Amino acid sequence: MVQTLGCQMNVHDSRRIHEVLRHQGYEETDAVELADLILVNTCSVREKAEHKLMSLLGRLRPLKEARRDVVLGVAGCVAQQEGERLLKKVPYLDLVLGPDNIPDLPALLADVDAGRRRSLTVFDLDSPRFLAAAPDPAQPEITSFVTVMKGCDERCTYCIVPTTRGAERYRQADEIVAEVSALARGGVREVTLLGQTVNSWYEPGVSRPGLRAPSESAFAELLRRIAHEVPELLRLRYTSPHPRHITPELVQAHAELDLLPAHVHLPAQSGSDAVLKRMSRRYTQREYLERAHALKSARPGFTLSTDLIVGFPGETEEDFLGTLELVREAGFVAAFCFKYSPRPGTPALALGDDVSEELKQERLARLFEVVAEQQSAHLRSLVGTEVEVLVTARGDDGRWEGRSQRHEKVHVELGPTHTVMGELVRVRVAQAFDHSLLALGEGGRLTPPRRHLPVAEEQPA
Ligand code: 5AD
Ligand code: SF4
Repeated sequence: MVQTLGCQMNVHDSRRIHEVLRHQGYEETDAVELADLILVNTCSVREKAEHKLMSLLGRLRPLKEARRDVVLGVAGCVAQQEGERLLKKVPYLDLVLGPDNIPDLPALLADVDAGRRRSLTVFDLDSPRFLAAAPDPAQPEITSFVTVMKGCDERCTYCIVPTTRGAERYRQADEIVAEVSALARGGVREVTLLGQTVNSWYEPGVSRPGLRAPSESAFAELLRRIAHEVPELLRLRYTSPHPRHITPELVQAHAELDLLPAHVHLPAQSGSDAVLKRMSRRYTQREYLERAHALKSARPGFTLSTDLIVGFPGETEEDFLGTLELVREAGFVAAFCFKYSPRPGTPALALGDDVSEELKQERLARLFEVVAEQQSAHLRSLVGTEVEVLVTARGDDGRWEGRSQRHEKVHVELGPTHTVMGELVRVRVAQAFDHSLLALGEGGRLTPPRRHLPVAEEQPA
């Protein structure tokens, strides 16, 4: 059993862990008491995430004590950060595995079986390994992730990721295109390119002197290549871009490529220039807004969502008002909002943690309110319009579920005879909820999908 905490990168890593284990003859189980191996894939980006791990391990302790043969392991960012220390702290733990050491899992498990507790948290800096996702015919996927780069060189002062994921390493374009292509041929309709600062990607080995990154527009070229070389694909997303690497070429790619969504999640973190500077984000509120507006003008109806932190050291009421201003000016339709959480070994520790918990809570609530208001106004404005939904699930209520071209969550109501799993359908929005939309197939019938590929058919319930 693999338990995943944290971001999409971890969800993706957990899939790779599953694949490695499947080759070793393991089968996934949902029942923790039946598992021979329990691996927790962890997150350490905020303190809360780390607490989650500790309480989960505490809950697993009686099970481990009752069945000594069960192997208990910790993978992911906490594993990388703590290494051997975690084995000392948690005496009933057998295995600690860094994010770059997933391919070493079989050898480590063999050691554990032989009675040795093991920890391996070594970055593959010299020859980075990117495990490819093989399409699984038994569980055909409609959406999938593909890693294009790993690690982060940005060193935002609050962030632990450069420590837990190491320096930036990039994957060869040929390898990326081959993986996307294999997935699409296996029935995957939407691929999300993954990386900590995904749009800083460039072709490894290609160096252009004078730029910190050899080519800041290389990512746009990669998107074009995938669009041209993988005709089976219906959608191509990427996450998370850094505002610093939103180039005119990338904006142009959004204007030209049908395959790209009319939405980008572009973390802003703050709207105050003073705070952005202390965070070492390397843009001002104005520069962020210029890039945001450039993206929005690339395509009609283009929307943005973001990540925001409140209560960063030294944040004044005026700084916070700058963030609210940014939220309004950028017109975010969604945001993940966090209270600043001091992380071990990060440069921001030296700045103290001087915004009180009450003030952080208060600012978070005010921020939520503005974001929620903008989100529902946006969703309401879509009632009566047509959306293109990639159908990825069917709810218990019989409604189909999927995401629009702008990534809004859409419930789709159709007549009982239609099977639209994995299809792109054009439907009209009938109603807006707080966080999603309800759309109806006109007269109970669907407008024909834009592109239709054979998938494993699922019978309607
Ligand atoms: N405190 C609060 N939020 C943080 N994030 C990253 N580090 C911290 C921290 N120390 C948030 C950022 C980032 C998201 C993944 O988590 O907003 O974009
Ligand atoms: Fe962390 Fe900043 Fe890198 Fe994002 S860009 S992973 S916030 S250091």
